Amino acid sequence: MAVPVSDTLVFFGATGDLAYKQIFPSLYGLIREGFDLPVIGVSLDGSIERLRERAGESLEHHGLTDKGASEKLMELLRAVRGDYGDPATFERLRKEMGEAKRPLHYLAIHPTMFARVVEGLAGSGCVENARVVLEKPFGRDLASARELNDILHDHFPEEAIFRIDHYLGKEPVQNILYTRFANPVFEPIWNHHYVRSIQITMAEEFGVEGRGKFYEEAGAIRDVLQNHMLQILAALTMDPPVGGDHEAVRDEKGRLFKAIRPLTPADVVRGQFDGYLSEPGVRSGSTVETFATVKLAIENWRWAGVPIFIRCGKKLPLTVTEILVEYKRPPRETFGEIVPVASSHVRIRISPDITMSMGLRLKKPGERMAGQDVELTFVRQAADDMPAYQRLLGDAMHGSSELFARQDSIEAQWRVVDAVLGNVTPLYSYRPGSWGPEEAYQLIGKHGPWHNPRPPEGKP
Ligand code: BG6
Repeated sequence: MAVPVSDTLVFFGATGDLAYKQIFPSLYGLIREGFDLPVIGVSLDGSIERLRERAGESLEHHGLTDKGASEKLMELLRAVRGDYGDPATFERLRKEMGEAKRPLHYLAIHPTMFARVVEGLAGSGCVENARVVLEKPFGRDLASARELNDILHDHFPEEAIFRIDHYLGKEPVQNILYTRFANPVFEPIWNHHYVRSIQITMAEEFGVEGRGKFYEEAGAIRDVLQNHMLQILAALTMDPPVGGDHEAVRDEKGRLFKAIRPLTPADVVRGQFDGYLSEPGVRSGSTVETFATVKLAIENWRWAGVPIFIRCGKKLPLTVTEILVEYKRPPRETFGEIVPVASSHVRIRISPDITMSMGLRLKKPGERMAGQDVELTFVRQAADDMPAYQRLLGDAMHGSSELFARQDSIEAQWRVVDAVLGNVTPLYSYRPGSWGPEEAYQLIGKHGPWHNPRPPEGKP
């Protein structure tokens, strides 16, 4: 049976950061593909003039210059103003929705307000045949994720709930899955027999950029590790999906998340960059981490004994997300040469540029049997052609949930980090522009060294 397309997009948080950074540019992209539906922006103080101004600024900031598309966006935009705790706001929304029969409500707001908005929507009759999109983090821990889910399920069936993790909408993340399962060469060597370790680094050169208040509620583990990083890990390590059912990929991911051993304090190093405490919105003496490194283990046959390290942080030397799957060294030195660790590897760069490469050790030309490390790159792309949010928003409007996180996975992801949330592990300071605190090197120890990604080509 064909799934009906939503007929109106309602987005909460219309004057906020996410709308500015992601939603307006995504709408512009969708309009260029033919999107032509009412878009209602709800916010505390956004008049229609303010909303149009904000949309215009966002498009300009992102260098989106197609006049036809931006005029169309202005024409489609409508505004509803009001407090999310006030039932009158939702009455006004109901009225503005007019004849809409299948709205999509996008909650681009602080997660602490999700429940209030859902109740407001339900109280005003805005949930009938509706879909709802929620931004991550979904909950603050396992217990609150379950509570939030119960509230949602009171008003929306599971197939109408779209939990965003925009990393799932990224082209290179999808390409990991595609490449693994479209080529039989990878599967036989994608396991503990051949893989020595896996490293994932998500480095950001910038700090919290005015989002101090949001970040204080999150910290690196809740902000990116529990979601984006674990999703990358799942794409990299899950088993092949079984059958052609549209839930097949999410089923396998769910199984993988459940196989990850929950973290204990000994598996975690947290850091905070010097200067974080002077950021606007940050509490004095805050112990929120802006950097985290964890050591993970996947307790299934494929990955038993393979150490997995994830490192993410703000104010690191550059902005880059990169994966390194290191193969084991040869079982003996055949040519009297010690083959370096990590000569043999797969390196996948998710951003800012996209590359997929394989590292090998080959003989250096000459008389001696001595080698050199070489890399064969099979994918090289400047950046993602379609922004993740555009892809996801389009999918949600069409009711396609494959690229959204399912509740069982979200719960399993929280289970991985639950015991190390908050202040249970020490916090080490680090210098902005460094690769985090020294203790991160101790955590990787004999499984290292850390592989520090290089700047994109052409950058110093
Ligand atoms: C967001 C986090 O989910 O992802 C931010 O809240 C982070 O702190 C961002 O900067 C990174 O996304 P991307 O797509 O730029 O890698």
